[in-house]
Amino acid sequence: MEDIETLVENYRKEIGDFTLSADQSAETFRIKYLGTKGLVKSVMAEMKNVPNEKKREFGQILNEFKTVAENKYEELKQLTVNSQQSTENTIDLTLPGDDLPLGSRHPISIVKNKIISIFQRLGFAVAEGPEIEDDWHNFTALNLPEDHPARDMQDTFYISHPASGGTDWMLRTHTSNVQVREMEKGNLPIRIICPGRVYRNETVSARAHCFFHQIEGLYIAENVSFADLKQTLYFFVQEMFGAEVKIRFRPSYFPFTEPSAEMDISCMICNGKGCNICKHTGWVEILGCGMVHPNVLENCKIDNSKYSGFAFGMGIERIAMLKYQVKDLRLFSENDLRFLKQFTSAV
Ligand code: PHE
Repeated sequence: MEDIETLVENYRKEIGDFTLSADQSAETFRIKYLGTKGLVKSVMAEMKNVPNEKKREFGQILNEFKTVAENKYEELKQLTVNSQQSTENTIDLTLPGDDLPLGSRHPISIVKNKIISIFQRLGFAVAEGPEIEDDWHNFTALNLPEDHPARDMQDTFYISHPASGGTDWMLRTHTSNVQVREMEKGNLPIRIICPGRVYRNETVSARAHCFFHQIEGLYIAENVSFADLKQTLYFFVQEMFGAEVKIRFRPSYFPFTEPSAEMDISCMICNGKGCNICKHTGWVEILGCGMVHPNVLENCKIDNSKYSGFAFGMGIERIAMLKYQVKDLRLFSENDLRFLKQFTSAV
């Protein structure tokens, strides 16, 4: 019994001196002294060895010991709460918060929106249409009858499906299909731009992809001339690339326009002096255009003796590559965040 008494005495002293180190909480104390395998329990177990006449006296000693341990636990718990509160009090609420991670628009969307907003200021409305298209809207109505050699200009993904009921479906090769659909509605005059994704059966490389984005434009009214086309595109280029950029037109061929042209802009990387981007010519090609072919108007039931119009089409990736000096087309569709994070919504 004396042994037990000394033991209790030592534990009481130990409890009295107990302090928490930084990585401990009141729980550390509870486990050591008051837990199911704690010291208080183990001392209590000694009761069975105490003779009956001493049980009362001894019980008191042990109960006191238990109370001491419990009080200490309460004290430590209070201490932990207080120290948490004191850290809370040291938080300076006037400090600016952490930065929230902000997303950014995809460069293709940034450039697309910029192009749209420029043409909207000239009164063009946005028109959209299907990416899966039939032969008529993608080719035939555009003066590209079946077996026309110019169909080879655009390698096409055809879709054959038993449920297609004989229709030749394909992935559209350009957004000109939307222009046909608008013309067929017959609400003249028409002044639209058609942004969207297009598909071509090309081998993927730094300069070509099997899908990309276009914006095509169409203006049909009475007395529309090539001069209107030039002025519209000149305005676009100045707004997009800057007032000092020059344009030039080269004669070209598209089945749906006559006359047809391709438009170059002076290279804004080297200011026309010659560099890698412009292949040392001082010029870079950005779009195809022309006066809408009378056959196209006729196919869409528009009176071509009364109405005329112009059309143009450009690849958004191409404009974005020039604008941001991106050398590989594939970067736009690989979703590498290191690439995408470099673009802000300012063009
Ligand atoms: N549809 C043509 C293409 O995708 C571009 C174009 C549109 C050319 C309108 C002339 C007029 O290549």
